[in-house]
Amino acid sequence: MNKTIIANWKLNLDHLEAIQLFQKLNYSLDNDIDKKIKIVVAPSFTSLRSIQTIIEADKLKLYLASQDVSEFVEGAYTGEVSVTQLEKLKISFCIVGHSERRQHFNETDESINLKVHNLINKKIVPVICFGESIEQRKNENYLDFLIEQVEKSIKGLRKDKVDEIIFAYEPVWAIGTGETPSLQNIVDVISNIKEFLSSKSFFDEENTKFIYGGSVTPDNSKEILNTQIVNGALVGGASLDVDKFIKIIESIE
Ligand code: PGA
Repeated sequence: MNKTIIANWKLNLDHLEAIQLFQKLNYSLDNDIDKKIKIVVAPSFTSLRSIQTIIEADKLKLYLASQDVSEFVEGAYTGEVSVTQLEKLKISFCIVGHSERRQHFNETDESINLKVHNLINKKIVPVICFGESIEQRKNENYLDFLIEQVEKSIKGLRKDKVDEIIFAYEPVWAIGTGETPSLQNIVDVISNIKEFLSSKSFFDEENTKFIYGGSVTPDNSKEILNTQIVNGALVGGASLDVDKFIKIIESIE
């Protein structure tokens, strides 16, 4: 089955530790892993170059994602990392709008939208995170909120560009908490977003992907990942443990 599994290492590991974890993952992966499964690692910026060198030298079938990117392309923006810099590192994917960035760094729908445009211009696949907080969840209209988040993130894009995007449904209350929505709930949310995108002719059955993130573990991955509408997972905590991460990958049938 065609699935994309992304390891979000967040603010963990220096570059030496990241290399170690990456090598452990690489050696532990069964060569027989279905070629249709894309395994992606998202370390901190400081580790991207080291890991990219290993992938390139050993011609590995593993992919790199950045955890974020600047909304600016170049210039006087101290501390930022641009899409051009990521492109040079042959980064394939970039997480955008993660709830931790929205929450702790005041990331807005507008800046997320700028990042998405910049990434698509450089042919780096944006992994756009959207999800509701527990307060929003209690509101009957939370699906409208999710649709609005998605709509704002892709504002102004050409229709044929949206198929290149991965949308990651990440309920904020499920991230790092051990709680997950029911499978039916995940399916309903993704179906609703799909319907919305289709109504705007923004959906391509072949290419547009929906993944789930929020407390994915070997205990729930089988159910989630073998559901057709779910095209993969964004894994945080469990991705720092190679054995757990491999079990998640192996649960794909
Ligand atoms: P978690 O994180 O798997 O630790 O819940 C997921 C994420 O933040 O992407």
